[in-house]
Amino acid sequence: MSETEFRIGVLGSGTGSNFVAIAEACASGTIPASIALVLSDVAEAGIIDRARERGLPARYLAPGKFRTRLEEEAESQYAAALVTAGVDLVVPAGFMRVLKSPFLSAFEGRIVNIHPSLLPAFPGLEAWKQAWAYGVKVTGCTVHFVDSGVDSGAIIGQQTVPVLDDDTPQTLHQRIHGAEHELYPKCVAAIAAGKLQVAGRRVAIGTKAVA
Ligand code: GAR
Repeated sequence: MSETEFRIGVLGSGTGSNFVAIAEACASGTIPASIALVLSDVAEAGIIDRARERGLPARYLAPGKFRTRLEEEAESQYAAALVTAGVDLVVPAGFMRVLKSPFLSAFEGRIVNIHPSLLPAFPGLEAWKQAWAYGVKVTGCTVHFVDSGVDSGAIIGQQTVPVLDDDTPQTLHQRIHGAEHELYPKCVAAIAAGKLQVAGRRVAIGTKAVA
């Protein structure tokens, strides 16, 4: 790993399929970056195994007593571990806790997230289930910057998928997952390559400035 290489830190609570898509894109050079550290708030999460299988450093860090966010002490430990690992960009990939100010200020403007709906529709938990129950005909996934709200940061990229008449929440989530595995590496690659143009909430991938 060279000193100048762009370094990614991943946070995850689940199976880690988005992590795998990003790790493979890093390994193939599609994302010009390396994965410096994977942290999980779930001791038995698949994402830890998927990282270790690839020889990448991964560890469980206890989240503390809350269910939807990290306890303040834990949040400082997460931030410290990522700073020590020299991380340039924090990439939650199915991390099921809201990040708060000590963490957000340590990585201001350097945290992105993938969400399984077309934001601003259906923020929060189980977004695919919300979209299915609402009866929308098109949904998808969104990569966005993380700010202090819930799934409210500036949007970097979105990819649509159809909702079919015979879909269940599970089949719909599977289709969204497929879109996530394309969109997330694409957005992370653009950030690592310095190709993101940001003007407030307006974000573009490419060399042309956004109006
Ligand atoms: C993904 O669908 C991701 O969008 C979602 O969790 C899943 C994780 O899957 N994230 C959220 O809902 C965040 N609020 P994975 O562990 O296989 O990548």
